[in-house]
Amino acid sequence: MKNIYSNIYKANLTNLKKAKKNIENDYIIGMPTETVYGLAGNAYSDKSVKKIFKFKKRPNFNPLIIHYKNLMDLKNDVILNKTFIKLYRAFCPGPITFILNRKIKSNISKIATAGKKTVAVRIPRHKIARNLLKILNVPLAAPSANIASKLSPTSAKDVVKEFGNKIKLILDGGYCQIGLESTIIDLTKKPSILRPGSITAEKIQKILNKTIGTKKSSEIVKAPGQLKLHYSPGIPVKMNRKYPEKNQAFIVFGKKFTKERNQFNLSKGGSLKEAARNLYKTMRKIKNKKFRSIAVTKIPNIGIGRAINDRLKKASKK
Ligand code: TXA
Ligand code: MG
Repeated sequence: MKNIYSNIYKANLTNLKKAKKNIENDYIIGMPTETVYGLAGNAYSDKSVKKIFKFKKRPNFNPLIIHYKNLMDLKNDVILNKTFIKLYRAFCPGPITFILNRKIKSNISKIATAGKKTVAVRIPRHKIARNLLKILNVPLAAPSANIASKLSPTSAKDVVKEFGNKIKLILDGGYCQIGLESTIIDLTKKPSILRPGSITAEKIQKILNKTIGTKKSSEIVKAPGQLKLHYSPGIPVKMNRKYPEKNQAFIVFGKKFTKERNQFNLSKGGSLKEAARNLYKTMRKIKNKKFRSIAVTKIPNIGIGRAINDRLKKASKK
């Protein structure tokens, strides 16, 4: 059954099979995950992966995350290590992406990995993503389903707003539960977090029983595009503001803010988890209301608050 948007589909068996056919024929589809929606294609097919880069206007040096249904499939393509096994047991399936060394015999498209010797791999836990992966014989390359440098989509409708009818099939999974992209951890050397997410450094350290590093984005992908504006709502964002300027949208957090005009509360109860879930949704709402800029109150830099601040910092770059 179709939704009011002709390319949003309910994720029943018929439509999952339709999605499978699309993937097998090198088409690209929209897929919900627990973090954000992805733009998914056959990770073993150059043709399919090229389309992803083209749709997203993504620079070809920026590699994609490869999504698997299980460990058995994943180990065909990457070399596992002890740290990975510990983290896999603790957090998978779930919102965490591991950078591991590529196996020589791996079939992953070299375009997907931007020719690197390492691969970003993830086993999502969202039911629809899992159901799709289960009926497929290939892993899915899936970056967030947005035009490069823009906000990631957290609902099927957001994907339509981003790509219109160019993506013929988007599986509807409602709003994403987490709302921010997965944590990325590099396990090819001393473990280090490349992108903070809902699985925090604290949680990871507890499992590994040692401190882990975090890297500045400038050290990660040694390509200039990575350093510029990212996660952008398309209007200026100013962080750590006590008050908004006149006619500026004001993103706030916690109960001390009484609802005033132009105020958007990420979580009245002061839950950082709820704030993370609402961040992109709120920024999209503000953009739609035609505000010209956004001020954001200080967000506590603990737990998932770090991931929120990471995205805000990149969104506020010029
Ligand atoms: O939550 C998520 O991870 C979502 C959903 C759809 O799964 N996907 C996602 O993909 O956020 P994307 O392409 O928007 O972000 C992937 C990030 C990029 O910043 C890319 O540079 C990095 O992963 N990456 C991919 N392969 C890498 C590698 N071999 N080494 C270092 N970073 C890598
Ligand atoms: Mg992205």
